[in-house]
Amino acid sequence: MMNYNITVAGVGYVGLVTGLALANSGNNVTCCDINEEKIRMLKQGIPPFFEPGLDNLLGSTIMSNLIHFTTDWKSAYSGADIIIIAVSSPSNANGSANLGYIETAMKQIAASISKDCLVVMKSTVPPGTTNALERPLREQVCRRNTSLWVEMASNPEFLAQGTAVYDTIHPSRIVIGCKSDRAESMLKDVYRPFKAPIICMDCASAELTKYASNCFLAVKLSYINEIANICELTGASIHQVTMAMSYDTRIGKEYMKAGIGFGGSCLPKDTRALTYFANEKGYSLQTVQAAVSVNEIQKMKLCYKAEKEIGGFQDKKIAVLGLTFKSGTDDLREAPSLKNISYISSKGGKITAYDPACIDNAKKIVSSNVVLTTDLNKALNMADACFIFTEWDDVRHLKPNDFLKMKKPIVFDGRNLFDSKTMLKNGVLYFSIGN
Ligand code: UGA
Repeated sequence: MMNYNITVAGVGYVGLVTGLALANSGNNVTCCDINEEKIRMLKQGIPPFFEPGLDNLLGSTIMSNLIHFTTDWKSAYSGADIIIIAVSSPSNANGSANLGYIETAMKQIAASISKDCLVVMKSTVPPGTTNALERPLREQVCRRNTSLWVEMASNPEFLAQGTAVYDTIHPSRIVIGCKSDRAESMLKDVYRPFKAPIICMDCASAELTKYASNCFLAVKLSYINEIANICELTGASIHQVTMAMSYDTRIGKEYMKAGIGFGGSCLPKDTRALTYFANEKGYSLQTVQAAVSVNEIQKMKLCYKAEKEIGGFQDKKIAVLGLTFKSGTDDLREAPSLKNISYISSKGGKITAYDPACIDNAKKIVSSNVVLTTDLNKALNMADACFIFTEWDDVRHLKPNDFLKMKKPIVFDGRNLFDSKTMLKNGVLYFSIGN
C-alpha cells in the first residue's frame, strides 16, 4: 500500500473525520483551515464540535504523529500528493449551492501546488463543478511549472452526523469520479484499507450521486411522513405500517421513522441545490420539490395540534425536550425545533428547553426568553405541555411517571418514542406522529 502526503482543506465534520481516518490508515495528513480558533483547539486535542467517538479518535491519532493541524495553507498545499477539499457548500438565498469557500480554497491551492498533485473534491457540488474548476487550476500551476501533473477528481462523502466516525471507518461505498488511470489508482490506494465497495465513474456522475442520494432520502422521509399523516386520519399505526413495509427488501427498514420532518445542514441544502440546478437546466424536479413542501408543513403539524389541545400557548409553561436536528450532534442548523420554538414564543408560551449537547450553540440563536437547561426535570416541572423534538437517549428512557411532575401531563412527541396506551394507562395524555 502507498502512503501519501494528504492535505485536507476544512475541518468540519467531513474534513476532520476523513483526515483522522486517512491518518489512521497510514497516510501523513495535514488538516488545514482558515479558522484559527478551531486549529488551536485541534492542536490541543479538543474537537471543535460534538460527535460521538471523535475525542478518542482525535487523541489517539495525534499520538501517532500522522496528523497535523495548520492555518498555513501555502505549506500545507505545496507538500501534498493529494489535496482533499472538504469545505462547506451552504445554500445561497436562492437555494443554489454557495461555492465561495471552495473558490477560496482553489485559489490558495492553485497558488501553492509545487509537485504532482491530485485535487479531490469531497465537498458537495453541482454536477460539472469539478471539471469546470480543473482548467483554471491547471493553467495557473502550469504558468509556474509546465512539467507538473495536476488533476481533479470527485469523491463525495456519505457520512451522517451523529455517526460520522463509524460511517467514515465503515463506509457503505466509496464513490470516485475521475478521468485518468493515475488518479483512479491513487484514490483506490487511499481507500483500499476501508474494505468498502469502490465505484469508479466520471466526475459529473459522482457529483450527482451525492445529490441523488440525499434527495432520495428526503423524498423517502417525506413520503413516510405523509403516510403517517394518513394513519392519523384513519386510526392506523405508522409503526405497524412501516414495520410491515420494511420486510420488502426493495423498501427496507432504514430511514423509515416518521416524525417532525428532516433538518440539519445537508438534506435541506441539497434538496434546494438540486432543485435549483435542475431548474437552471430547464427541468422541474417535482418529486424533490414536493418532499421539501411536505417537510415544511410536517415541522409545524404537532405544534398546531398542541395549540388546539391545550387552548393556546399564552402564559403556559412549555417543556421542550431536545433542540438539535437529530441526536448525537450539537448542530442546530435547520432543526425543526427552532421553527416550533419561535411560533410558541410568538404566541406567548414560556419555554424551558432541555438539550444535553447544544446549549452553547442555542444561546447564540434562540431568543433570550427561552430558558435553556441540561436538566430534564427543570424543563418538565410544572409544565402545561411537553414537546419532544430530538430522540436523545435520556428522553427515550423517561418513564410515564417522569411526566407526572408536569402541571398537566400532556406530551406531544415528534419522535414517536413512547407507546400511547402505556402513557395513557399511567395518566399521561400522549400525542405522536402517525398514531
Ligand atoms: C445526511 C445523509 O444521511 C448522509 O448520508 C449524508 O452524507 C449527509 O446528509 C451529508 O450530506 O453530509 P445527516 O443530515 O447528517 O446525513 O443526518 P440524517 O441521519 O440523514 O438525518 C437527517 C434528518 O432526517 C434528521 O433531522 C433526522 O432526524 C431525520 N430523519 C432521519 C427522520 O426523521 N427519520 C429517519 O428515519 C431518518
